[in-house]
Amino acid sequence: MFAKTAEFYDLVYSFKNYEQESSQIRDLIRDVNPSAQSILDVACGTGQHAQFLAKDFTIDGIDLQPEFVQVAQRKVGSGSFSIADMRSFDLDKTYDVVQCLFSSIGYLTKPEDVVSALRAFKKHLNPRGVVIVEPWLSPEGYVEGVPYMAPPVDQPDLKIVRMNVSERKGNLSLLRFEYMIARKEGIENLREDHELALYTVAEMKSFFAEAGLSVEHDPVGIFGRGLYIARDASSR
Ligand SMILES: C[S@@+](CC[C@H](N)C(=O)[O-])C[C@H]1O[C@@H](n2cnc3c(N)ncnc32)[C@H](O)[C@@H]1O
Repeated sequence: MFAKTAEFYDLVYSFKNYEQESSQIRDLIRDVNPSAQSILDVACGTGQHAQFLAKDFTIDGIDLQPEFVQVAQRKVGSGSFSIADMRSFDLDKTYDVVQCLFSSIGYLTKPEDVVSALRAFKKHLNPRGVVIVEPWLSPEGYVEGVPYMAPPVDQPDLKIVRMNVSERKGNLSLLRFEYMIARKEGIENLREDHELALYTVAEMKSFFAEAGLSVEHDPVGIFGRGLYIARDASSR
């Protein structure tokens, strides 16, 4: 998924204010589970949120991309970061918060995979624990045929431009990223295809219910993509 471009992830996403987002997440956690001390960051990527949340919580992470897990572990020496698939992981440990941010859940393009992942999140919750999921866009919120360019990376020895035009196939959004990477040696062109499912809020809520979680939906969230906040339905 990110295999070809893992080393550039933090640079390409430098337009995202992870520090600010992390303080919003910290405040949200303080609100929904005031005694929370531990977080599992599912699909943690390169640990961009974890590095800031580690100031207030103990935090572990999992991700499918080995290079990301290595980077996250380097950034957050106090936590334990491992390669695992969110659909089927078992860390034999529980947490006050299980979070899955920046639309990572959208990479699960089959409803049954989302339900499996949410079941795994629930299994890793402490009794009063909360699940926080920042989703990908809903079908109504995704517009086809829009050209996008990530803010270019412009360093003395490295320039990166990433573009795509939004495409769609049924309930799948297709992000065919084209990169131009300029270094001393020359310019490299890379192509990386991402497929993320466009689930409606009603569908997402039904996945939570099927996984045994009671859920609330905040349509805005931390990055404008909304947020689901859920608890084990049997502990209410
Ligand atoms: C858009 S990135 C978000 C990463 C990070 N949470 C952030 O905010 O920067 C999506 C992440 O989901 C991870 N991912 C996708 N499918 C996964 C799966 N089945 N299990 C675990 N991680 C997965 C990718 O490797 C990638 O790190």
